[in-house]
Amino acid sequence: MSDRNKELAARKAVEYIRDGMVVGLGTGSTAEFAIRALGERVEKEGLEIQCVPTSEASAALGEELGLDMQSLEDNPVIDLTIDGADEVDPNLNLIKGLGGALLREKIVAAASAREVIIIDPGKLVDRLGTRSPLPVEVIPFAWGLAKLRLVDLCRRAELRRRDDDEPYVTDNGNFILDCHFVDGIADAASLELSINQIPGVVENGLFVGLTDIVVVGLDDGQCRVMERST
Ligand code: 5RP
Repeated sequence: MSDRNKELAARKAVEYIRDGMVVGLGTGSTAEFAIRALGERVEKEGLEIQCVPTSEASAALGEELGLDMQSLEDNPVIDLTIDGADEVDPNLNLIKGLGGALLREKIVAAASAREVIIIDPGKLVDRLGTRSPLPVEVIPFAWGLAKLRLVDLCRRAELRRRDDDEPYVTDNGNFILDCHFVDGIADAASLELSINQIPGVVENGLFVGLTDIVVVGLDDGQCRVMERST
């Protein structure tokens, strides 16, 4: 899907940001458009915004753009977070983590009063797990056991590797197991809990009930805004 769709969604989402807010910065190519658009607004409008990043990459980009980067420790209550996703279902539940930042992204989402997800239309699915694998972050010591336990819950679990074949390591020093499903995920809420009970699993990329708004950048230049029903 084109960068145009991503940028459209990102610019629309950045309109939700108001002066004085603490803003969570997501990770990935779509979130990068939002961070850049926020940088433009701060520069043009002189907004006083504090930012909490979900990855080292987003922290570096925010710093490069001159944004006021803060830690979650100093700002455990976030007004609004803008982040991408790998899949979004009709209930606004998500799979996240193909970019490897799912742990901090989920913590920041949980700390946020409003979570705004920005996507292109290719990320919309009827059922989670049908297009994207589900990333699971595990501590390196436990990955063999976690893989064994995960294949009771999915068809295949693969250790994510870098181009040089070494294991991919997250910002938190952990590994990722990408889980593949035959017909997708029937019950995301219960699978999220079951996976997190496996010893050595730190977190998984199912985001259930954490999203307030999804902004989809459409091919005709418009955005579709989907809000969680309360
Ligand atoms: C990173 C993520 C990303 O938000 C997700 O992978 C989408 O990335 P992109 O916008 O590049 O498609 O969850 O952990």
